[in-house]
Amino acid sequence: MNYLVRQEKSEDYDKVRGVLQSAFFRDGKDAVFNEWILVEKIRDSEYYIPELSLVAEADGQVVGYILFSPMKIRGANTSFDSLALAPLAVYKDYQKQGIGKHLVRLGIERAKKLGFKSMVVLGHPDYYSKFGFKRASKWRIGTTEDFNDECLFVLELVKDGLRGISGVVQYCPLFYNGELI
Ligand SMILES: CC(C)(COP(=O)(O)OP(=O)(O)OC[C@H]1O[C@@H](n2cnc3c(N)ncnc32)[C@H](O)[C@@H]1OP(=O)(O)O)[C@@H](O)C(=O)NCCC(=O)NCCS
Repeated sequence: MNYLVRQEKSEDYDKVRGVLQSAFFRDGKDAVFNEWILVEKIRDSEYYIPELSLVAEADGQVVGYILFSPMKIRGANTSFDSLALAPLAVYKDYQKQGIGKHLVRLGIERAKKLGFKSMVVLGHPDYYSKFGFKRASKWRIGTTEDFNDECLFVLELVKDGLRGISGVVQYCPLFYNGELI
């Protein structure tokens, strides 16, 4: 199968919605963590980074999508910039063919070029460890001050990109509107 990974264009928006709905829709979904609405809100906001909104295209259609948005890691008296990887989705028929991996890798490459020093993801350990992500708890980084999240991972994009950094992750505000996350 031939596919390419590229920056999203406005013509892709409806197709991206389709990919996200196919991956994340379930009954009762609209109330909590609705990924396709979240992406649309981010696009319309100051938190949208066009270079970090990527699609995979195959057979003339969008079959995968990834978005990265700015976030903070907040300590008691500190605040560090980081980048959230969310969401990532690939159409079922196109999964397990390397498309997800390609989207993550291009995102990482671009994030480095844009000067980000670290990246955070809530996800499956088996999947994200392949890219070098490590348990956030190692740095005392977490979704709460317990720092015992099993599924929160961080990646240093430069050497020692997280040196001396710990705290609670704070996604951009749009993740929290309507009880997202
Ligand atoms: C997760 C997802 C994006 C992976 O996309 P994909 O194109 O199938 O992934 P790839 O083909 O690049 O897989 C890369 C590797 O991860 C493995 N993998 C794929 N899906 C996996 C999963 N859900 N859990 C663990 N490992 C997985 C693959 O076997 C492959 O292993 P390999 O490198 O040893 O060959 C896709 O399954 C998906 O859209 N799922 C539904 C939405 C979702 O859960 N998104 C992630 C939210 S954090």
